Amino acid sequence: MKQLFAFGVYGCMLLIISIPLHAINIIPQPAEVKTGTGVFQLTSATVINAGNNIVEARQLQQAIQEASGLNIQLKTSSKNNSIRLIVDEKLKKELGEEGYLLKVNPDNISITAPASTGIFYGIQSLRQLIHGNGNTYTLNAVSIKDKPRFSWRAFMLDEGRYFKGSTVVKRLLDEMALLKMNTFHWHLTDDQGWRIEILKYPQLTAIGSHRDSTQIGGDADGNTYDSKPHGGFYTQAAIKEIINYAAERHITVIPEIEMPGHSAAAIASYPWLGTSQKKIRVPCKFGIQYDVYNVADPKVIAFLHDVLEEVINLFPSKVIHIGGDEVKFDQWKADAGVQAYMKEHHIVSPGDLQIAFTNGISNFLAGKYRRMAGWNEIMNSMLEDVDAGKVSNREKLAPGTIIQFWTGDLKIIDQAVSRGYDVVNSFSEFTYLDYSYKDISLEKAYGFDPIPKGLDPKYHAKILGTGCQMWGEWIPDEASMNKQVYPRLAAYAEDGWTLVANKNFGNFCKALEYFSARWNVKWDVN
Ligand code: ACM
Repeated sequence: MKQLFAFGVYGCMLLIISIPLHAINIIPQPAEVKTGTGVFQLTSATVINAGNNIVEARQLQQAIQEASGLNIQLKTSSKNNSIRLIVDEKLKKELGEEGYLLKVNPDNISITAPASTGIFYGIQSLRQLIHGNGNTYTLNAVSIKDKPRFSWRAFMLDEGRYFKGSTVVKRLLDEMALLKMNTFHWHLTDDQGWRIEILKYPQLTAIGSHRDSTQIGGDADGNTYDSKPHGGFYTQAAIKEIINYAAERHITVIPEIEMPGHSAAAIASYPWLGTSQKKIRVPCKFGIQYDVYNVADPKVIAFLHDVLEEVINLFPSKVIHIGGDEVKFDQWKADAGVQAYMKEHHIVSPGDLQIAFTNGISNFLAGKYRRMAGWNEIMNSMLEDVDAGKVSNREKLAPGTIIQFWTGDLKIIDQAVSRGYDVVNSFSEFTYLDYSYKDISLEKAYGFDPIPKGLDPKYHAKILGTGCQMWGEWIPDEASMNKQVYPRLAAYAEDGWTLVANKNFGNFCKALEYFSARWNVKWDVN
């Protein structure tokens, strides 16, 4: 990605002059920074004094090796020339699970935190403070007290459209961890591909993970295809490996299994799942498809329960995402069975049918001690639909559901929080990584505040945080994906972590230099 860090392209160049004095070159910018005097010299004689924090000590050891080539040792008793890792649970009230204190003095360094996550994040900050020239490695004296603004700091990868594979996912998780992002939202099923092995329904991957060809050219209304088969899926063993890899980096993996729309690949695998009952192939075309699960059929509901059961058994995440966006109601409207079901259950509109179905799924998940998340359409379809009388608003979404806002009027957020729901703000106009840099510049990405202007402060705590979304339609490989993701991922990380008062685009650009070297080395696409 050589071209990536011609900073002028991203509008960083001129802003570096207005750096606030308290700031430091760390992304995301910490909560409190006090610069000291002198430097700590990192040498082969430096030791890590980790107490019981052996996992984190090994991670630090590896990070230092990566940054400097120095292979420093773990030792229990050393005061000077040491990096101490200290868990102090008393700090929990002030710093939470993710906060930490990082002190760099000329004699030693300490990372103190109430929990291992905080120690891990202190290490991520420390990595960015190492200056070196190939011979000497130093860290300037500093005292940092840090904790995140939001608890949900997500990156979403859509693999329904193109399968990327474990190696690519692990590289993304590495960068997320360095940026203190804690939620990997894994969009595993969509119209154009089913990517997760479900043991009870092998056709989902035998058929649903492959398509004959793929639309190309960037325009869903276009008619150009590559005529190349595409396929791939994660076995349950591969998924477990990813979950463990993420957990070592303090990242929770939240799976998304789309329902009742974006389900054409599943319906191609088992035609009885669909409302039209027609045999279809896995779509090669992007854009919203009309095929939709027949939610009036108990067999289809049983299928979804079975799938979710396997998903729950695989993923330790407390939250399971069920998609729920962009459902086309045409097939439900045209189907006599669905219409009869609605009549029998006094459901007056397809929008209400979606909510009734979604509530059934959320109750199923709640019964398994999991919390459901979905895109904002799960709440009451779009407000426009309510206004147009297309949705009665009689059906209310089950309590505890997490609404991921991505589109429509910002009033939807007010409505969700005032009804008691928690919200993740993934407003597409600011957080969609598939959008061009012209539409969402680095500065625009950086300027996103997950708390919408004017939201009553009594509801601020209902905004759990933010996600940025890498939709996959036009990104067939890692290189094309990386162009969209980096460097904007760093901006979204700071949106999720840093207090608004501490955000400064000029300083952010300066701190990005650390990542420019890193991302250049790893992902040189030229
Ligand atoms: C979405 O972008 N369809 C959630």
